[in-house]
Amino acid sequence: MNRSTKQIALFSRPKGKPVLENFETKNVDLPELADKEIFLEAMYFSVDPYMRGRMNDAKSYVPPFELEEPISGGVIAKVVKSNSVNFKENDIVTGNLPWQQHCISAEKSIVKIDTSIAPASYFLGVLGMPGLTAYFGLMQIGKPKNGETVVVSGAAGAVGIVVGQLAKMHGCRVVGIAGSDEKVKLLKEEFGFDEVINYKTCTDLKLSITKACPNAVDIYYDNVGGETSDAVISNINFNARIVLCGQIALYNSTEIPMGPRLQPMLLTRSVLMQGFIISNYQSQFGEGSKQLAMWVQQGKLKYKETIVKGFDKLPAALLGLFEGDNIGKMIVEV
Ligand SMILES: NC(=O)c1ccc[n+]([C@@H]2O[C@H](COP(=O)([O-])OP(=O)(O)OC[C@H]3O[C@@H](n4cnc5c(N)ncnc54)[C@H](OP(=O)(O)O)[C@@H]3O)[C@@H](O)[C@H]2O)c1
Repeated sequence: MNRSTKQIALFSRPKGKPVLENFETKNVDLPELADKEIFLEAMYFSVDPYMRGRMNDAKSYVPPFELEEPISGGVIAKVVKSNSVNFKENDIVTGNLPWQQHCISAEKSIVKIDTSIAPASYFLGVLGMPGLTAYFGLMQIGKPKNGETVVVSGAAGAVGIVVGQLAKMHGCRVVGIAGSDEKVKLLKEEFGFDEVINYKTCTDLKLSITKACPNAVDIYYDNVGGETSDAVISNINFNARIVLCGQIALYNSTEIPMGPRLQPMLLTRSVLMQGFIISNYQSQFGEGSKQLAMWVQQGKLKYKETIVKGFDKLPAALLGLFEGDNIGKMIVEV
């Protein structure tokens, strides 16, 4: 067993948009395998927008990445050697693991996945954290009702593409907002969205949303924040729900930007706006995963991935999220 492996660590903290120079790749030696530990070979890495927040030295719901220490996140890996009765060679597992080609994990930090349900990488997307985020955010905060209008921003991303389909399943009119004509076409033609707006090319986003939502917006599933959300919220209906899932448009801001003050409109229209972190629903993950897996197996829930090949491409893939390089879940395959 080769004990030397490649690792990608945080080299410096970004100011504004992260750059490749914020990361460093090095070789590290792994210790001997102890009791109840498993030696893993990475197969797929997830890159996610929340990782940008962890690059800052700031208090948040997850601790910051440490300088000189590996970045970590969702990984799918194969068991190479096991000192645990719960895992055997060639099992496929997932867990929050370091950005390393090989690593040693405690048995309690990983779970086996069932690749007869779907391809292994889906457990980082529709059957993993992003899928659960779409499901719980929409169902428990959005509470979609037949005939309502749902707008989702970041519509072609890992979370958004699931939100749109779930809203359709619940009888809603679904309007997506995404950043390229290719994404617009895909969401309309393959994922059943009723209308999709390219926020980068449309000249008046607020007006485009008014036209796409003649009965106003009953649920806004917000993945991006910023000016996109200002335009959607200007079209909000009475008794609407705003699901605050992500604010990627602001993750690289160096100061809090000034926006329109929309609270009087939220007040007079009795709108609920609620933020959430997916771990709030941890106790219900089993039920959510089962439901999502069933829809995927029945062909009711489709998925899309952008797979970047090569361990060394991890930092570039992460930065690509901020350029809209991905359609569906951004994955790095080793
Ligand atoms: N609350 C939670 O627990 C939780 C869990 C998971 C994810 N999230 C959040 O949900 C959002 C979506 O996550 P995801 O994993 O599905 O990512 P994603 O949508 O797959 O990838 C990010 C996408 O954001 C869009 N984007 C990038 N910069 C933007 C900007 N300045 N303005 C508008 N759009 C921009 C890009 O698409 P375009 O081409 O359309 O611009 C890009 O493809 C993120 O904000 C993330 O932080 C929250």
